[in-house]
Amino acid sequence: VWGSVVAGPPDPILGVTEKFKADKSPKKINLGVGAYRDGNGKPYVLPTVKKAEQKLFEAKMDKEYLPITGLGSFTKLAAELAYGKDSKPLVEDRLAISQSISGTGALRIAMAFLGKFHETSKTIYLPTPTWGNHIPIAKDSGLTVKHYKYFDKDTVGLDFEGMKADIKSAPDGSIVLLHACAHNPTGVDPTEAQWRELSDLVKEKKHFAFFDMAYQGFASGDILKDAYAVRYFVEQGHQILLCQSFAKNMGLYGERVGAVSFVCDSPEEKAKVDSQLKIIVRPMYSNPPVHGARLVSEILGNQELYNEWLVEVKGMADRIIDMRTKLYDTLVRLETPGEWKHIKSQIGMFSFTGLKPEQVEKLAEKASIYLTKDGRISMAGLNDGNVEYFAESVSKAVKG
Ligand code: LMR
Repeated sequence: VWGSVVAGPPDPILGVTEKFKADKSPKKINLGVGAYRDGNGKPYVLPTVKKAEQKLFEAKMDKEYLPITGLGSFTKLAAELAYGKDSKPLVEDRLAISQSISGTGALRIAMAFLGKFHETSKTIYLPTPTWGNHIPIAKDSGLTVKHYKYFDKDTVGLDFEGMKADIKSAPDGSIVLLHACAHNPTGVDPTEAQWRELSDLVKEKKHFAFFDMAYQGFASGDILKDAYAVRYFVEQGHQILLCQSFAKNMGLYGERVGAVSFVCDSPEEKAKVDSQLKIIVRPMYSNPPVHGARLVSEILGNQELYNEWLVEVKGMADRIIDMRTKLYDTLVRLETPGEWKHIKSQIGMFSFTGLKPEQVEKLAEKASIYLTKDGRISMAGLNDGNVEYFAESVSKAVKG
């Protein structure tokens, strides 16, 4: 039956995990997928998540279906976390929001909605580079993908002028996807002043601002600071769309908890958008899973747990920053050819090392170190026990 099916390539990110798992070396390191690891290289279940889990267990809750757009207490708290309790769209009851199958699911619903209803354009502009999965999600949703400049290889920083020029030359009313913080894969974000400029430009061009915020808390260790771009655009009157994920900042990867929200111009418009969100979600997966959303609600809805969680997020962000310093210092001590300062200046879960595809291959073959082909490393995969080995292996790969 399937004789005409051609084998496809492995996923550029999750395929790396498959290779890592198949490797028998005791020294192996997985720096592919963006999943936090503790100081011993082990997956980390946040203490607040454990406490919330205990509460849920004691509450002996049922396992009934959720509504199509998810758990109301969860979506309310997720919106408050991103936009702020006093944000106008929330106060004025004009935010349409749905729970989603984590960030990817949020993007899928959002892009399907745009594919059906965005009137001025079905073209979405993505940064170069961007998270690899953005592209197939957009295409599968019926959008045309174009790109705007983002990363400058020479300065290993933001190509702000190129970014502005491309956004400016896109036809009026285009869709522009912006990584709200901790840009994946580069770890390079616009400054607050640059965000303000971008807001003016997007407004002038009547573009539609689409924010993907998968890493709130991971850029600065501060949940509020990381929401700056989202909140500023909303204050400036943009009717943004926002995708949120709790995979990283609550360590709820496999629970698949996220949200997608649309700032509408009135409660009436919100009701209409909400009805169409249900029509999109129902044939996709009917309604979302309940457990992870309950966990997030327990944490965000309880002042004590919420405060503890903020400390845990900062703890994860700080450990990553510490690894950046250690990696940089070791590469320099080993007199590794090249400039490595960007490892310290980039932010969030990833570092865009500048390693070339052949060096990445060499690292896998010779040292059992796995990263994505573009040279991105998940900083969280490094710890005191393996950073030296990693730096030595990089040094060797670069020296040839
Ligand atoms: C990543 O970029 O590694 C993460 O967003 C995980 C994923 O699903 O790709």
